[in-house]
Amino acid sequence: MTATSSKNTRFGKPVHRFETIDTTMTEATIRAEDGAAEGTLILADEQTSGRGRLGRTWVSERGAGLYFSLVLRPPAAAARSPVLTLALGLGAARGIGEACGVQCDIRWPNDVLLNDKKCCGILVESATESGSVRYAIAGVGINVNQAAMPPDLSDIATSLRIETGCEYLRETVLQAVLKHCERYYEMFLERGPQPIVNAFSRASSYARGKKVVVELGGSRVYGTTAGLDPGGVLLLEQEDGSIEPILAGSVRPWNKPGEEGL
Ligand code: BTN
Repeated sequence: MTATSSKNTRFGKPVHRFETIDTTMTEATIRAEDGAAEGTLILADEQTSGRGRLGRTWVSERGAGLYFSLVLRPPAAAARSPVLTLALGLGAARGIGEACGVQCDIRWPNDVLLNDKKCCGILVESATESGSVRYAIAGVGINVNQAAMPPDLSDIATSLRIETGCEYLRETVLQAVLKHCERYYEMFLERGPQPIVNAFSRASSYARGKKVVVELGGSRVYGTTAGLDPGGVLLLEQEDGSIEPILAGSVRPWNKPGEEGL
């Protein structure tokens, strides 16, 4: 990738680029602790300990994907809100769509999908002290030019190249994603959660009417998605008709026994 010269007003200024790093999340946290400005971008060609939500690993093949973290300094309430993750997921989906001419789906809260497989994930970590938020780090991983995914992931994860047969300039994808992430972030700061929740509900096939299983730590909840509440919490209608708010967890499609292939 060539050196980044961002056209964005806030995201990607400055850029710190690494060939290899353990994880851009830790580097961004260190820089944020040192007072790095909002929009500071940590970008790596390869991560040796890339991490995802819920303690998972983010496989970060050298030179194939985009792996970056942004330092954000939103007001405390915004940093604590799950809507921040939704805003960045929307931005990533729109940016990928624009750069690659594809239509991405989004799965609550943080998975960007192409042809029902995950091509991008978002990880937001907020630093709090005495109840107040000092900064948030938004990590974005995009599988761009991987020719194949690791066998244990190939059923659920993909790359833009695998799905379209095209290779992409990562710089072009990066700039489009930064532009749209910044747009949705500013929308959230200026107008609050509702426009983001509305946009997410329109963009996500998972927001309503999808049979899913939600993994919550050790337990599983099954049901049909029933929209998002005004704070971005996913609502799940269970078989007895009760509505369960889902605050965290991992959402997957659920084919009821006997309904596979329908
Ligand atoms: C997820 O889907 O679970 C979130 C994945 C986030 C991966 C990105 S890659 C850049 C940044 N550095 C990390 O270690 N993780 C995030």
